Amino acid sequence: AGPCDIYAQYDTPCVAAHSTTRALYNSYNGPLYEVVRGSDGSSTNIAPLSAGGVANAGAQDSFCANTTCVIQTIYDQSGNGNNLTPAPPGGETAGPQSNGYDNPASAIGAPVTLNGQKAYGIFSSPGTGYRIEDTKGVATGNEPESIYAVLDGTHFNDNCCFDYGNAETNAHDDGDATMEAIYFGTCTVWDKGAGSGPWIMADLENGLYSSNAEYGTNSADPTQNDRFLTAMVKGGTDGFALLGGNAQSGDLSTYYNGSRPSGYQPMNKQGAIILGIGGDNSDGAQGTFYEGVMTSGLAPAAADAAVQANVVAAGYATTSLVSGPAVNPGSTVTMRVTTPGFTTRYIAQNGTSGQYSSSVVTTVITSSSPSSLQQLGLWKVVEGLAQSDCVSFESSITSGSYIRHYAFELYVDANDGSAQFADDATFCPKAALNGQGNSIMSWSYPTRFFRNYADTMFVASEGGPQYFDTTNSYNNDVSYVVGSGFES
Ligand code: AHR
Ligand code: AHR
Repeated sequence: AGPCDIYAQYDTPCVAAHSTTRALYNSYNGPLYEVVRGSDGSSTNIAPLSAGGVANAGAQDSFCANTTCVIQTIYDQSGNGNNLTPAPPGGETAGPQSNGYDNPASAIGAPVTLNGQKAYGIFSSPGTGYRIEDTKGVATGNEPESIYAVLDGTHFNDNCCFDYGNAETNAHDDGDATMEAIYFGTCTVWDKGAGSGPWIMADLENGLYSSNAEYGTNSADPTQNDRFLTAMVKGGTDGFALLGGNAQSGDLSTYYNGSRPSGYQPMNKQGAIILGIGGDNSDGAQGTFYEGVMTSGLAPAAADAAVQANVVAAGYATTSLVSGPAVNPGSTVTMRVTTPGFTTRYIAQNGTSGQYSSSVVTTVITSSSPSSLQQLGLWKVVEGLAQSDCVSFESSITSGSYIRHYAFELYVDANDGSAQFADDATFCPKAALNGQGNSIMSWSYPTRFFRNYADTMFVASEGGPQYFDTTNSYNNDVSYVVGSGFES
């Protein structure tokens, strides 16, 4: 059985069921999600390998071979048609796309295995988010509901708001009690929990709540950073509960169960669904979603416990983010451009012999260039600052300085020790999109790869909103031969 079979048994059926990793009903064999590829803009649906099973990641890998793919639709498995697509502009902010919509997620940012079978989650970067405004079956007003999601406890930030759940149908902040969603992260604008976070909280609109206290600290709401975690928000007719646990083992614990904050009773839910954003499309947060559902009615504790056991039995585990020729920590490397006409250029700190700036460009360097020039194009590979499976590139001129993106342009900056810097400086080498060497994916924005554009270095997404995201020459511009020296 799947989580939604369990909730059905308890007369609190799923009214929305979203997952890119597996079927959430024993009998479900329809589409889980839709990917769109960069090479020709065509799309395909990814379904479970068999009814009730794990997603057919191999079908995605074949469809997306030697190109980029994004997740355009997350299908609702409940039969209500509550499919999620990139979110429209909201009251707080418009998304980064030229039409004001949020970005779709990369299809390869969150690889995992479920009992050994590969699948992909949804790695949501700042600017990424999904929504459906016109839903069917979802709780409105003061109707009760239960919501759970399986998330990555190591991927978060302190911005508003990485959410999954019930939100406004107009993408505006319509006031207290117009939302009821799971929040995960370290945002401390409103409530917080114990320690330094991240925490599971409830986004009830105009506030992320760990209890009924406004601007409070609920010491029973622990820092929850399990690699795979289960988060639950339960919205009753006269209160709410927060539950959480390790999605790989054990039971759920209750972090809060009581009344709502003042001004939030009764609720005024509107029944739209969001993923990765706040109710008004605040889109600065990040997180990873693997599966989640919303029910009709407040599920009993026995149902929640059975769902947690079902998630544990699904066997979530990590798998590697890197592929292609090995780029090993401890080595010193050069990265040669493969774009025809530019193949004598290497990724280098901008400058001439002995003088340099912090920008990263491509420069013609040969084995007979002066060593002071060669140094600009030599990079020390270290374990990724934000993710040990990936790498960071340390300057061979200024130790402690690394390649990082800022406004999606590459710079060499001193590590300030912040989580933001670590995210910006972590890159995952993959098999090159054009077959020559590696394409170097941004860990925190996995739609984006190292790209040379007019001899300057960026992290670029294929066909994205920035001028350097142009599709023309994309595969060649994002492919580099990683070597140990310069050609003659
Ligand atoms: O409640 C927290 C956030 O506040 C909501 O997600 C957003 O709509 C508002 O900015
Ligand atoms: O490069 C994109 C973002 O720009 C970085 O993550 C951030 O540091 C800056 O705002």
